[in-house]
Amino acid sequence: MPDPLKHRLDLWLRSERAMGLPAVPLVDMGYVDESADPSPPKQTPAAPPSRAAQFFAGGPATKQPTAAPPGPPAVTGARPNLYGNAEPPMAKPSANPLPLLDQPFTAPVLSRDEKIRALRELDDAQVKGCTKCRLHQTRTNTVFGEGDPDARIFFIGEGPGENEDLSGRPFVGRAGQLLDKMIAGMGFRRDQVFIANIVKCRPPQNRAPAADETDTCTPYLVRQLEVVRPEAIITLGLPSSQYMLQSKLSMSRLRGNWHQWRGIRLMPTFHPAYLLRAYTEDNRAKVWDDLKKVLEALGLPVPKRSGKQE
Ligand code: URA
Repeated sequence: MPDPLKHRLDLWLRSERAMGLPAVPLVDMGYVDESADPSPPKQTPAAPPSRAAQFFAGGPATKQPTAAPPGPPAVTGARPNLYGNAEPPMAKPSANPLPLLDQPFTAPVLSRDEKIRALRELDDAQVKGCTKCRLHQTRTNTVFGEGDPDARIFFIGEGPGENEDLSGRPFVGRAGQLLDKMIAGMGFRRDQVFIANIVKCRPPQNRAPAADETDTCTPYLVRQLEVVRPEAIITLGLPSSQYMLQSKLSMSRLRGNWHQWRGIRLMPTFHPAYLLRAYTEDNRAKVWDDLKKVLEALGLPVPKRSGKQE
């Protein structure tokens, strides 16, 4: 912007403020290029895994599907996501539904029966028929999430993939099989934890959810967390970790450290789909360290890690 114009704009904004009017953001006036906003880089996918199923136990690995049928309204500014597919840039956090990061829930904890009823009602009355964002146009099923309503540990993924969209259940594809192994490695069955996603409908081509989609959808997740009231949240991957913490830090900065989300401890770790792509001993050890920290914090026994390659 030329200097004289900047000066006049400055005077104008000052006079507005002096009159008690809110300042007009430069973005609205077209003076700031929003596309220049630097979002943290996504994980760079590594070579396809060959021994993914050995994460904790063992078994052959097959390739994660990457192609999806055409469909959705295109979102511009695409960059590769966990699956190597296009995704829109992460927009700045807007008027999002996570305003009270540091304010614990105050509603009383429900009984198990009340939790079951509340979750069912949320799904039946609100999520299943939701048309609040563009993702409803291309979904087959909504994916509410599932697990023990009294779960002590709540996993949060990014969004349903193809298998989840078809089945209506979270983490049932290849990444889900690896998540099951992570859960088993912690000494739990899948139905003893709770598993949900940032968005309840599949983003087309498995792209990461756009900011307006997460902003629209996360009140459902917040309500699920308020009902289940877990002792620990484990966010899987960068989008869910960054979104829950309203952070722009990279995964290497976020994972392995405790964070707080509304009075609940939150541990970010790698997404199993990323792990499938970058299946190194180093990454597996990092994930196991993160999961171990959760067990220790909850006073739970730490099983011996199986499937470790020396
Ligand atoms: N990836 C996710 O983030 N969530 C799912 O439910 C499946 C794959």
